[in-house]
Amino acid sequence: MSSFYITTPIYYVNARPHLGHAYSTLVCDALVRMHKLLDDEALFVTGSDEHGDKIAQAAEKNGQTPQSFADTTSALFRNLWPDLGIEGYRFARTTDPAHESLVQAMLTRVYEKGDIYYGEFSGHYCYGCERFYTEKELENGLCPQHLTKPELISEKNYFFRMSKYLPWLKEYIETHPDFIRPERYRSEALGMLETGALDDLCISRPKSRLTWGIELPFDKNYVCYVWFDALLTYISALGGPEAKDFSHFWPGEHLVAKDILKPHAVFWPIMLKALDLPLYRHLHVHGYWLSRNTKMSKSIGNIVDPVDVVARYGRDPFRYYLFREMHFGSDASFNEEGMVTRINADLANDLGNLFSRVLTMTDKYCQGTVPHPGAKHDADKEIIDLSVTAMQNFVQLFSGLKFAEGLESLWELVRALNKYVDQEAPWSLAKKGDTERLQTVMYTLLASMRKVALCLWPVMPEASVQMLEQLGQKASVHTPPVASIRDEIACFGGLYAGTQVAKKSNLFPRIDPAKRVTEADEKNSEGPETKKEISFDNFEALDIRVGTVKEAAKHPNADKILVLQIDFGPLGVRQILSGLAQHYAPQDLLGKQVTAVLNLKPRKIRGLLSNGMVLTCEGESGLSLLSPEKAGKNGGAVS
Ligand code: MSP
Repeated sequence: MSSFYITTPIYYVNARPHLGHAYSTLVCDALVRMHKLLDDEALFVTGSDEHGDKIAQAAEKNGQTPQSFADTTSALFRNLWPDLGIEGYRFARTTDPAHESLVQAMLTRVYEKGDIYYGEFSGHYCYGCERFYTEKELENGLCPQHLTKPELISEKNYFFRMSKYLPWLKEYIETHPDFIRPERYRSEALGMLETGALDDLCISRPKSRLTWGIELPFDKNYVCYVWFDALLTYISALGGPEAKDFSHFWPGEHLVAKDILKPHAVFWPIMLKALDLPLYRHLHVHGYWLSRNTKMSKSIGNIVDPVDVVARYGRDPFRYYLFREMHFGSDASFNEEGMVTRINADLANDLGNLFSRVLTMTDKYCQGTVPHPGAKHDADKEIIDLSVTAMQNFVQLFSGLKFAEGLESLWELVRALNKYVDQEAPWSLAKKGDTERLQTVMYTLLASMRKVALCLWPVMPEASVQMLEQLGQKASVHTPPVASIRDEIACFGGLYAGTQVAKKSNLFPRIDPAKRVTEADEKNSEGPETKKEISFDNFEALDIRVGTVKEAAKHPNADKILVLQIDFGPLGVRQILSGLAQHYAPQDLLGKQVTAVLNLKPRKIRGLLSNGMVLTCEGESGLSLLSPEKAGKNGGAVS
């Protein structure tokens, strides 16, 4: 039995979990499940990154202490994972005292080795990234991640002699082609090492500026840089370098998105080298989930909440869609319309239909039990060969993080099975009384379906269990359904004649694309008359924001219209015309917060351009502005 250990990023607790975090964690869950199916001992670590400026600032804004703020948000992550069917992990927090003392022990080790020194430094500090940038790294003077101007800070700090190890790392990455995967991120990492922009790493923050961190063991006036702290979670979660779990599971693998390539491809291997610890085996880097063609972010207001999607479409279809849609390494767009099409085509039509028709026929023609197969024809042999190769390909591709390709190869089998049903037409065999042929075809179908169900355990654990149970097998979402899927690849059988199977199956109800709710939900929904229903995407496409009226004046050529200059913070000031003149005096609107749709096509009204639409409702005495109940942030999204 070999061991498999992988980690997700340790997520910041300054925001709620969203689809991007869910994807990384689901990938680790599925890989751990796949390795358990391969009879490996498998574990993954996820958790929360709780120290640093970002969190301290978010806590202050929320009127909470950093610790109580971190407790609340960390719990949102921790509580989400079981709702997505995720298990087999340890949840680590950087505020855990055992982690804190390990970070101090590791800092001491590097300090005593002479790889940490004290020096004066002035640099461009980005609060969003919590790090200094060199001139060369900035793009037009802005942080390349946040496109904001970093602050020039000059102070005394502790530095990690990273530059000493850069040539070694470059050579290591060059001679270990699968250290960072896919290839494009390995090239990107090598590119970083080639520019000469990297230097020693500032690993302290003076307490005069930040107290929310782990104190340096060699200087009480400083706390540790949040990345030096957080990366060490990957080993503190195993109990540290002396622990039994460490010798059992380390070296492991890491999974991250491309936003945090540098700390994982550069800082972390160098930290491990300086600590005389073995390097990780692989760094797997995925792309971004985009929503409305942009990376999800709270400030843009295009976040997709996984809880919401799961509530409407079910946990397993959601999981399937994510694995099928994203080609690992590239960006993918989350799009509800596309998700519904995918669920209906692959799950309701192909897979669901296969189970439904074959089980109904087994009930009708074989007394609901797995029949004894007879002599095999070429068509049966082809299906048997395809079952073995599809399974083999699936396991290989999926364990190699080629999730979309693995599922595609499995679906070749699912589609071929549906075709085989059509071609062999068990109903005519029954009519003709050709029992031997009928039994062979039904056995071939049922045994192949079992293979498909086994493969899907890492992707859709609940549906896989349901399928296996419908085929008369014992299964659980918590433990792998077979001792080793390797044995299953080697031989076709595995389903015994005489096994009782379910009379029918309805695994994935079809979703009405117009309504985008399942048929079951549709029956329960009633409501008052409203305008024609629109899709969720159509609603989401509206860019509604909060802004403050800076200037207001009557339109020179239209009595009913006011011309407003509204400040939308980072989005700038916009001129919007609104039919408010008979309801508000211009001066009453100054300083008032309003909400407005910003992505309407601009239009001219009597010679003046209106760049958006202010939202109003009908009040008892005329039009009333829709304003936020508590002061909103200018430019903040309305959702
Ligand atoms: N705290 C650091 C990580 C420290 S690891 C020692 C951090 N946290 S984070 O909360 O910002 O998480 C970033 C990670 O969340 C990404 O690398 C990725 O795994 C996931 N995602 C966040 N947004 C994402 C998308 N839009 N798409 C895909 N994954 C994304 O960085």
